[in-house]
Amino acid sequence: RTVLVLNGPNLRRLGTREPDVYGAETFDDLAALCRETGRGLGLDVEVRQTDDEAEMVGWVHEAADGRVPVVLNPAAFTHYSYALRDALAQRTAPLIEVHISNPAAREEFRHTTVVAGVATGTIAGFGLRSYVLALHAVAGLLADEDG
Ligand code: DQA
Repeated sequence: RTVLVLNGPNLRRLGTREPDVYGAETFDDLAALCRETGRGLGLDVEVRQTDDEAEMVGWVHEAADGRVPVVLNPAAFTHYSYALRDALAQRTAPLIEVHISNPAAREEFRHTTVVAGVATGTIAGFGLRSYVLALHAVAGLLADEDG
């Protein structure tokens, strides 16, 4: 089963971007970690990143049409993109919101998420491990459906 791991703006710059907040590992490291985790769970993981809201909305429509589970780090879109939220509300499969940092422990503007209310659940604050936990959550939800 295919799972999409979608990443929003600035996440391609992992490793150089505010390493004190987001760590030293790169986006390629993250992609490899997700694919490897997927392999162990019997999931075919495809990792994408965009800085463009329209492209992200298009990917979310694609997932909805294909009943594809999504692990999503919406990055800054989390805090203000109603367009992304409305796209996610059309989901037809599990959606796990992930964050590398813990937005609730950071600046006030990061305490608002317009995505959480349309997600199956949210995992935040565990570094890149947030994605590993999210993929395990997806595998568990899919096993429940099949069981
Ligand atoms: C983030 C947290 C967001 O507040 C921020 O805009 C990001 C990354 C995270 O993974 O911790 O770009 O989603």
